[in-house]
Amino acid sequence: MAFSVAGIIAATAASAETKASLVKFEITKGESIAHSLTGQQGDPVKGRAVAIHRKKGNCLACHAMPAPEQQFHGNIGPDLTGVASRYSSGELRLRLVDATIINEDTIMPAFYRNVGLHRVLKKFKGKTVLSAQEVEDVLAYLLTLK
Ligand code: HEC
Repeated sequence: MAFSVAGIIAATAASAETKASLVKFEITKGESIAHSLTGQQGDPVKGRAVAIHRKKGNCLACHAMPAPEQQFHGNIGPDLTGVASRYSSGELRLRLVDATIINEDTIMPAFYRNVGLHRVLKKFKGKTVLSAQEVEDVLAYLLTLK
């Protein structure tokens, strides 16, 4: 069941970058991406919109979040309230880019990876779920969750 959630997300939401345009990033100490993917700071207001959007981040499929206007928060993953007190921005960025680097068995979708995704519709093949800037925007939002 959980797997199909991830599959649906990858399949419906793939919007953004193709392989050719994937931004290069460096993972430090195996658990952090220190630098912005775009060189720009994210926008927390846009990031919140991406996070709660059912066809974009769709974080609510698996996580509770401080978004009382939204019904049906998931509980497959941890509550994201206070997540910025538990992780650095680099650690959060890596979790958004590709959570499987930290836990290869996780069902959390890799939001900025375009290979090895399961059950991706043909038209979304080779595309990331979120763009590099959308990752930065969601990160900026997560950093407000202290
Ligand atoms: C298909 C389910 C699923 C979706 C969708 C999902 N996650 Fe997760 N996430 C998880 C699970 C499960 C974990 C627990 C860690 C693990 O599995 O390795 C997790 C862990 C996390 C963590 C670490 C939290 C902690 O306290 O350790 C963060 C941060 C996070 N997710 C952010 C997000 C954001 C932001 C989105 C939306 C852009 C998102 N997740 C979408 C399943 C999901």
